[in-house]
Amino acid sequence: MLDVKLFEMHTFLPLPYEGALGPRLKKAQEKLQNGSGAGGEFTGWVHLPRDYDKEEFSRIQAAAARIRANSQALVVIGIGGSYLGARGVIDCLCSPNYNLKKKDTPNVYFVGNGLSADSMQEVLDLVADVDFSVNVISKSGTTTEPAVAFRFFREALEKKYGREGARERIYATTDKARGALKSLADAEGWETFVVPDEIGGRYSVLTAVGLLPIAVTGADIEALMRGAAQMMDICADASFASPAWKYAAIRYELYRSGRSIELLACYDPAFRFMSEWWKQLYGESEGKDGKGLFPASVEFTADLHSMGQYIQEGKRLMFETVVRLGKSGCQLYVPRDEADGDGLNFLAGESMDFIRDRAMEGTLLAHTEGGVPNIIVEAGGKDPESLGQLIYFFEYACGLSGYLLDVNPFDQPGVEAYKKNMFALLGKPGYEDRKAELEAKLHK
Ligand code: PA5
Repeated sequence: MLDVKLFEMHTFLPLPYEGALGPRLKKAQEKLQNGSGAGGEFTGWVHLPRDYDKEEFSRIQAAAARIRANSQALVVIGIGGSYLGARGVIDCLCSPNYNLKKKDTPNVYFVGNGLSADSMQEVLDLVADVDFSVNVISKSGTTTEPAVAFRFFREALEKKYGREGARERIYATTDKARGALKSLADAEGWETFVVPDEIGGRYSVLTAVGLLPIAVTGADIEALMRGAAQMMDICADASFASPAWKYAAIRYELYRSGRSIELLACYDPAFRFMSEWWKQLYGESEGKDGKGLFPASVEFTADLHSMGQYIQEGKRLMFETVVRLGKSGCQLYVPRDEADGDGLNFLAGESMDFIRDRAMEGTLLAHTEGGVPNIIVEAGGKDPESLGQLIYFFEYACGLSGYLLDVNPFDQPGVEAYKKNMFALLGKPGYEDRKAELEAKLHK
């Protein structure tokens, strides 16, 4: 089961820290459990692994089976919380090279998460000669990036299958009643899935937002939910036995003692998008009112050959949170070479996991020696149950962390600033005054 510890705790934290933080964590816990804190109307994810809509869950599985049967590709359109979790889980369960593998499940392409014409055209080309379906995901139903992408892919579907045929291939995941996407879906008769009102985008991976794309790969979404439910029960314990309490408390104390950056590290490239998901979760939840740790990520051992220098000897700004995934799915052993021209025979017969684990230990010792605290999250593995546990653990610890910082962990007012400017500069009706003001600044 998932566990958390700070390596050489006594070196980095004034001990004991539990006494001072316990009562504050207890209050934070109550706020999460009862929805009584700031943003409490968005705590629907807290009991989701128990209370999720079972009827919709069956519809997700049926839709995934249909897509697997009639499509060679699924195009997932969404940005931020509407794609990062699904991408992270698919990479972990199926590999970042999933689309290149020989398999009898559809490729999954993620679009609408930026505004690059080249990357959009690339996916349009990739699906031009294959049967495909589209899952458009937007809680608000009005986000520009996915809305623009959807125009292109809907047009491509309608050209290929006609309006009727396209109807069978479009799945919209959005608000149950509001927003342009919901209105469109109702008018066109597309199958819809719901992002519940009480669950914000970055906490939505265990709703249809993440579950439909994940299920299309054939992954076991029941096991994912089971893992989350196990962690939900563990996190219900209001004590330092809860890994979420430990993690929230340690990172808060490190923040208070002057650390301003948290680096999430993992030794598996398949984890890259889980780190992206984690960055959004913590960055949007904590980074407000002039507060919050800056969440960044590194992929080891690759980044030990780039960022490793800074981590070891640069400005002492950060601490690391290392996610350990345990034993690899396959075991590879270093071959013996009689000539031993590369001098590697001392490793002959050793497994890649053995070498990785020594690298992990060596790095842990070097970085802590260099003054960088290391939190270790023992996550168990990349199987669906362990990932469900890890997702829920990070979400719960994030809610606790937000309340320890005294911010609302469930809003993101800062995200609106760029949108308003972009709308004004694009000439969206209603933004005329702002447009003139911004253009004057740009062309000064
Ligand atoms: O966490 C959030 O709420 C945001 O990052 C959203 O997920 C992102 O902006 C996409 O929003 P929407 O799903 O409404 O298109």
